[in-house]
Amino acid sequence: MKESFTGKVYLVGAGPGDPELLTVKARALLDRADVVLHDDLVSPEIISLILPQTEIVNVGKRCGLKKITQNEINGQMIALAKRGLQVVRLKSGDPAIFGRLAEETDALEAARIPFEVVPGITAGISAAASLRVSLTDRRSSSRVVIVTGHPATDKEKQDKIEWRDLVRPESTLVIYMPGQNFSHLREELVAAGLASDVPAVLVSQASTPRQQQHCTTVGEVHKLQSVPAPAILLIGRSLERACQRSSVENLSLALDDADLVICSK
Ligand SMILES: C[S@@+](CC[C@H](N)C(=O)[O-])C[C@H]1O[C@@H](n2cnc3c(N)ncnc32)[C@H](O)[C@@H]1O
Repeated sequence: MKESFTGKVYLVGAGPGDPELLTVKARALLDRADVVLHDDLVSPEIISLILPQTEIVNVGKRCGLKKITQNEINGQMIALAKRGLQVVRLKSGDPAIFGRLAEETDALEAARIPFEVVPGITAGISAAASLRVSLTDRRSSSRVVIVTGHPATDKEKQDKIEWRDLVRPESTLVIYMPGQNFSHLREELVAAGLASDVPAVLVSQASTPRQQQHCTTVGEVHKLQSVPAPAILLIGRSLERACQRSSVENLSLALDDADLVICSK
């Protein structure tokens, strides 16, 4: 047991789920870690890469065995580093995007624990890549808005999302934690001036073998069926190609399944 010096905490992005999307640095840190503290959303495929001698602790707040508070997670990181251990705090996607990174770095700084942040591929970027689209397009989409559909703190709940400030014809909206009921979102977006025919794509479990994507439009977004978590909603003209491809693929699947095809002039 290493005891005489202070260890270090690495706040590492695990990416969206596909182990091949881990950075080389993240993989090397996982191989060197004494302990890995991970969130629920880190995929089982990535957890299975961790070496057997490494202690693995699920500190997820959703499916972890017990309900753990943010203060308890901070306390665990600090206590382990004070024992001289190399700690990887593994978060899904990128640790700086809706990952409570700032709360954890504040606690580490206050306890004078050395730490480093290692970026990862965030879900929105991965979802766009899996749809083979660009979130920006100099012909139509000059900005990307990263926003949560599900405010987590009381402060965030008070600061209601002002969609009117965010929604512009040239924006791509990347909505994390979009929830399951899109009726309210539809109303807000249309009231904010977004055209009903703007494409919207809901991507579930991006980058994993379980990925699903469903194309629709802002006007029809409330009709989307619920999908397995985690899911992310992308909205904007930049999604047009993804929706065109999806309708061609759906048509060809329907033709493959059909017993009889009737063509008219
Ligand atoms: C607490 S946030 C964490 C985001 C993460 N730090 C990132 O950069 O992707 C959790 C939300 O991220 C999105 N998310 C994370 N992984 C995803 C995936 N593989 N597919 C789709 N959405 C994902 C979902 O909207 C989910 O509710």
